[in-house]
Formats: sequence, structure tokens, C-alpha cells
Amino acid sequence: MSTNDELLKRVLVTGGAGYIGSHVIYTLQTTRRYKVISIDNLHNAHPKALSRVAQLARDALPVDASEKDKDSAEIDSHICDLTQKDQIRAVFEKYGKGGIWGVIHVAAYKAVGESTQIPLSYYENNVAATLYLLQVMQEFECTKLVYSSSATVYGIPPVIPIPESTRLKADSPYGKTKVMCETIIEDLCSSEPEKWRALSLRYFNPAGAHPSGLIGEDPKGRPGNLLPLLAHMAIGRVQDSKLRVFGNDYPTPDGTCVRDYLHVLDLAKGHLLALDALSPESKVFDNRPTDARFKAYNLGRGQGSSVLQIVEAMRKATGYGFEWEIAGRRRGDVPDLTADPTLAEKELGFTAPQDLDTMCRDLWNWQTKHPWGYGEPEGELAPRTRQVVE
Ligand SMILES: NC(=O)c1ccc[n+]([C@@H]2O[C@H](COP(=O)([O-])OP(=O)(O)OC[C@H]3O[C@@H](n4cnc5c(N)ncnc54)[C@H](O)[C@@H]3O)[C@@H](O)[C@H]2O)c1
Repeated sequence: MSTNDELLKRVLVTGGAGYIGSHVIYTLQTTRRYKVISIDNLHNAHPKALSRVAQLARDALPVDASEKDKDSAEIDSHICDLTQKDQIRAVFEKYGKGGIWGVIHVAAYKAVGESTQIPLSYYENNVAATLYLLQVMQEFECTKLVYSSSATVYGIPPVIPIPESTRLKADSPYGKTKVMCETIIEDLCSSEPEKWRALSLRYFNPAGAHPSGLIGEDPKGRPGNLLPLLAHMAIGRVQDSKLRVFGNDYPTPDGTCVRDYLHVLDLAKGHLLALDALSPESKVFDNRPTDARFKAYNLGRGQGSSVLQIVEAMRKATGYGFEWEIAGRRRGDVPDLTADPTLAEKELGFTAPQDLDTMCRDLWNWQTKHPWGYGEPEGELAPRTRQVVE
């Protein structure tokens, strides 16, 4: 527990203005133990996200908040491109050697399909950028890291639910960038086991938004993920008359693909637990198989939902009568990606209690309060002509 005369720990969050980064920053700020520094190049984000997060943190301060508490509610925000090492160095220089306690590295490109079309951009933005970040961290004696990985590292997993011990065999360039970064980080931890500590968090499917509706997922262009796509259909931003469901002949209960959704705030809490587990007094590395202080954890609920179950949950949340049609299977789709989250629960104390209905409610709350996300309206919303289900 922190006492009042302890200084705030400076934690740098890369990709801080993005969907997950903004919820992670919110969660760190609720503790009033951290001073958050954000790095983002706004490639897929809007600066408003950070001002809204700071607003939430300020609003949550007690009336008798100390100066230190007030400081914890403000974000040091830097527009910085992680593929430019000099830009990263300039940020670290502001705080000096040892001035940043740890890093949560969230920034990356994340679209599986796009990564097959522009693989070099993915390797540059996800792998080279991570390398530069680690080099600068080393220069500035900042050796604690939480890394945003993904369930895509498992490719088509041989066992469901998926344990962390599953071999890593990503199919897409995107998934491979995550495997490569985990490998680089583990090698670094092996090279200087007394210095480096890192935890890789393999996210399953984050969804939902902060219940205030002030922050949420704001995909640029047509959403690539199912839940934001349904939200855009229901609000009238995407005018498809029917949802295309890719395959209904998979070996799953209703034949459609199954994914493990977890609320973005539960996911964000996992980062706080991981950060705390990097402290010298933490026990998470006691049972490590090698000298390296490196471990990976699944962050999921351990409960799968099929595409059709998601559509039904969104119908309940939005009142919108979605129609769908079955299209053929899509190349590269994995039938079932459900986590075995028991290791994270046992070692980090991680749980993801919020259910699918809550995720859909919070997503819809964000979408209705901000039909165009953080930006300006891009056109007219289509009238809700589809039958609205009572
Ligand atoms: N959202 C998901 O479903 C999901 C699932 C598994 C893993 N992940 C991982 O979680 C992380 C965050 O995902 P998200 O959904 O919040 O995506 P996002 O696009 O909303 O956030 C990523 C942020 O990183 C920033 N960024 C990208 N490249 C950068 C660079 N070179 N320099 C500085 N900033 C840069 C973007 O502007 C954006 O704000 C990614 O690493 C992603 O691979 C996401």
C-alpha cells in the first residue's frame, strides 16, 4: 500500500489515446498511485480520448484531494511515433535516467486482414517500434514492461480452452508480430535477468466501454470487429441491410465461430495487476522455468460466445432487429478461440466478471451518446428503418 509521502510512480502507456490504452489509463488513474505519461501518434485515435479520461479522473477525486492526487488525474501526453527512435528518446529525456518506473506497451496496428496486405508496415510498426522502445528503455534504465499481446499468437489452437503452454503458431503477419515481440522481450529478460521484468498479456476479445459513455472504441472507417460493426449498423453509420456471417458449419454449438469476449475495463484491470506484479516484492516470477523474469498470461473470461449469440445480445441492447445472411467460410478464421484464464486468476488475481449483456449495454451507451465517436459528424445517420424489436 502506498503512503501519502511516496511519490507517484511514472508509468508510460504507448497507444494511450486508443481504445484499450484509454481504458488502461483510466484504470491506473483510479488508484491515484501513478503519474501517467502517454505516447501516441494518433494514427488510429483522437486526442479527445485523453482529455475525457483526465476528466473522468478529476471527477472521481475526493473533495479533500491532495496536490498529489490532483497530479495523478492529469496525463502527460506526447504526440510521438514509435517508429522514430529519436522521438521516443526525446520523451524519455524529459524524465531522465530512472525517471519512468515502467511501460505498458499497447500501441500497434491490429487488423489481421490488413496485415496480410501490407505486412511490411505491420513488421515496422509493431516489431521495429517495439525494438526501438526497448532500446530506449534500456538506455534510460527503465526495465519493467507490460506488453499487449493477443490470442492470435496461438493460430488454430489444438486444445480449447487454450492454456498459455500452447505452442505459438500465428497464421497472419499481425499474429506473427505479436509472437516476434514476445520472443524479443523474453530474450531481453534472459540476457539480464536481474534487471528486466516483463509480462505479456494475451488478450482475447475486448468489448464494451466505460459506463459513462465518455470513452469507447472509435474505429476509423468500417469496423473490422463484430461488435463495433453491429453498433454502427444499429446507429445507422453502416448501411448494410444484412450482416454477413462467415460460415455456419463449424464444429461449434450453432455452427458459427466462437470468441471469448471480455469487458474492456476488466481487461484494463488486468494491466494494473500485471504492473503491480512487476514490483520487486511480487511472487509471480518465483516459479518461472528459466532465469528470465518473463511470463505470458491469457486475459479472457473462459466463456465463448458464437456470432449468432453476439447478434442476439446486441439486439437486446439496441432494440434493433438485425438481419443476417450466411456467407461462406472466410479464409484464416479459427472456429473457437476461448481462453483458459486460470493462470492469470491464480497468479495475478485476475477476473473478468462483467458479462456479455453488460459489454453490449456499455458499447451501445457510448455509441448512442457519440454516434460519430470522438470526431465530427461524417454525414447523415440512416433512419432506423429495420423493425425495432420491443
Ligand atoms: N482490440 C482488440 O480486439 C485487440 C485484441 C487483441 C490484442 N489487441 C492489442 O491491443 C493493443 C491496442 O489495441 P486497440 O484495440 O486499443 O487499438 P487502437 O488502434 O485503438 O490503439 C492503438 C493505439 O496505438 C497508436 N499507435 C499505433 N502505432 C503507433 C506508433 N507507431 N506510434 C505511436 N502510437 C501508435 C494508435 O494511434 C492508437 O491510438 C494492440 O497492441 C493490439 O494488437 C487488441
